[in-house]
Amino acid sequence: MSHPVHVHVSGLGFRHADGTTLQFPDWTLDGGSQWALIGPSGCGKTTLLQLLAGLRKPSSGSVQIGAQRLDQLSEQDRDRLRGRSIGIVFQTLYLLPTLSVLNNLLLAPAMAGLEPNRERALDLLRRLELDHLTNRHPDALSQGQAQRVAIARALMNRPALLLADEPTSALDDRACLRLLDLLKEETRLCAATLLVATHDQRVREALPSVQELTP
Ligand SMILES: Nc1ncnc2c1ncn2[C@@H]1O[C@H](COP(=O)(O)OP(=O)(O)OP(=O)(O)O)[C@@H](O)[C@H]1O
Ligand SMILES: [Mg+2]
Repeated sequence: MSHPVHVHVSGLGFRHADGTTLQFPDWTLDGGSQWALIGPSGCGKTTLLQLLAGLRKPSSGSVQIGAQRLDQLSEQDRDRLRGRSIGIVFQTLYLLPTLSVLNNLLLAPAMAGLEPNRERALDLLRRLELDHLTNRHPDALSQGQAQRVAIARALMNRPALLLADEPTSALDDRACLRLLDLLKEETRLCAATLLVATHDQRVREALPSVQELTP
């Protein structure tokens, strides 16, 4: 997908299996914009990220990424779009414990059916100050290091949209600001749109736009 792409959220609602119903505001994220998604615990931040990534199906309304409405794609095309154009940093990082840091990064192109790009992986590891950890396994990383590896992996395929769920929760102030600088800089280099779901006031202050969800 060519960069940058706009993301439109329209009439979006989601009903969890337990009956919890969430309604999200209409919203346009311009290509290359950088957002904090804030709101109290349980207001639906993680659910909204999952809807934007096409990992959950809305019960009403739609998400449009570039020219494509996620609900109008086949499951296969949605998976393909997610793999190639959306980088996701989950709250639980989902690094594979049996793979080295480098191979965790190379998983991103492999899963998306793209050529393995070792140079890209090594370059990201360098820029995220992880190059000395290339051959380590995730269980031998600090929480902050593991977060940066997950971010590097999410950036591997030069996504058009980067979604991060509470990526700074484990970090002290200095590491938090450094990580936000990196996220902003790396997404700017990809001309990607950045959305960070957070409780963290430091994140809200560091990003130019804020979307607030109400319970
Ligand atoms: N798998 C699920 N099944 C049923 N209800 C769920 C599920 N996941 C979330 N919910 C409910 O949906 C609502 C929104 O949850 P969500 O995880 O999106 O909130 P959040 O804003 O990310 O919260 P937090 O800040 O604590 O991470 C909550 O009321 C939650 O209990
Ligand atoms: Mg959440």
